[in-house]
Amino acid sequence: MITLNDAKKVLSEYGQEHILKYYTELDQSEKEELLSQIELIDFSVLDNLKAENSFTAARGTFAPLGAVTIDDIAKNKEIYLNKGIDAIKNCKVAAVLLAGGQGTRLGFDKPKGMFNIGVNKELYIFQCLINNLMDVVKQAGAWVPLYIMTSEKNHDDTVNFFKEMNYFGYDSSFISFFVQDMAPSVSFDGKIYMEGKSRISISPNGNGGWFSSLVRAGLLDEIRDKGIEWINVFAVDNVLQRIADPCFVGAVIDSGLQSGGKVVSKADPDERVGVLCLEDGMPSIVEYYEMTEEMRTLRDENGELAYKFGVILNYLFNVDKLEAILNNKLPIHVVDKKIPYMDENGDLIKPDKPNGHKFETLVLDMVHMQDSCLAYEVERNKEFAPVKNATGVDSVESARELLKENGIEI
Ligand code: UTP
Repeated sequence: MITLNDAKKVLSEYGQEHILKYYTELDQSEKEELLSQIELIDFSVLDNLKAENSFTAARGTFAPLGAVTIDDIAKNKEIYLNKGIDAIKNCKVAAVLLAGGQGTRLGFDKPKGMFNIGVNKELYIFQCLINNLMDVVKQAGAWVPLYIMTSEKNHDDTVNFFKEMNYFGYDSSFISFFVQDMAPSVSFDGKIYMEGKSRISISPNGNGGWFSSLVRAGLLDEIRDKGIEWINVFAVDNVLQRIADPCFVGAVIDSGLQSGGKVVSKADPDERVGVLCLEDGMPSIVEYYEMTEEMRTLRDENGELAYKFGVILNYLFNVDKLEAILNNKLPIHVVDKKIPYMDENGDLIKPDKPNGHKFETLVLDMVHMQDSCLAYEVERNKEFAPVKNATGVDSVESARELLKENGIEI
């Protein structure tokens, strides 16, 4: 393990000497716990706080990207459906549920998927997702392998919950869990927070690391052995999420493109959603805050918004390409979050508004590593009910309304 002197050296290089403030008060095992955390942390993420290294400073030239629209899809439904069902039947499609986030905005202290969105009956977010996937299993007559990414913080709760709920009727031999990596959290002035005298505050490092974490967990061999070619990655918090959607899978296969992303039409130019577009000729996602006024309001020859198709965190990637880009570095995003921390008096404080930054890589940046991506338009009210907040926009309330609208008993 790293020595105290080496730890001091690395901490002083990054201006983080306060981490050892209580070191002399700690007992032997606490000292070891702290030193081993220091050893494991990649302090170079802190360099992303410097303005010149910020991700937004490094973007290329954007251009709009069209989509296969709801109308196009209706016309080709049979073809897409057959190709998709075929791929699923032949075990060429797996799904990855990104459930490593902390869901700080929802303010629920268990994994987000354990949230009961039901009103008159119990209906957990995980259950909604499994029910949706079961529709496909029934349609295709084959189980879809499901890989669930957790984090150190929520792994045990998640696994135990699935067991306790008997996997909501899914065949458990088709479900595997794997754990993602962590990164330190810092205050707005760049000092790493402590959670206790011997514990550095760390949090999941974003959903972009899902494939490398899956590989590290040894699951790629299994994926290869099963002959899986396509992976559908999706977020935990959209309770209307269609998973391994045969029509989407079939459309991507039929297009001959390397990947696909589900999109919804933006309701108005100022909607806060990332848009699938081209960046220097390659597929990419531009975040709403990166768009200029001109990009936001630009119209095409039909009077439609040119940057029109917002992503809903549902992508289809090809396993060969994922392997080829495995060692490519994803950009690190510095995001503002509520971070519990130990104050001057040694008390643990749970802030009610963002008090610092976390460092995250994002799955959407993988899209820019693809040679091509099919934007596949879906109906917002049928497929997009995100649970981000307790109330208001993208909330428990709005998701409940949408579940009801889609005939799901809650
Ligand atoms: P969000 O960007 O909504 O983040 O995640 P979050 O941490 O869940 O929630 P807030 O921002 O703190 O309220 C989008 C998806 O990515 C997953 C989440 O579980 C969700 O499915 N995710 C996010 C991870 O799997 N790992 C992460 O480190 C972050």
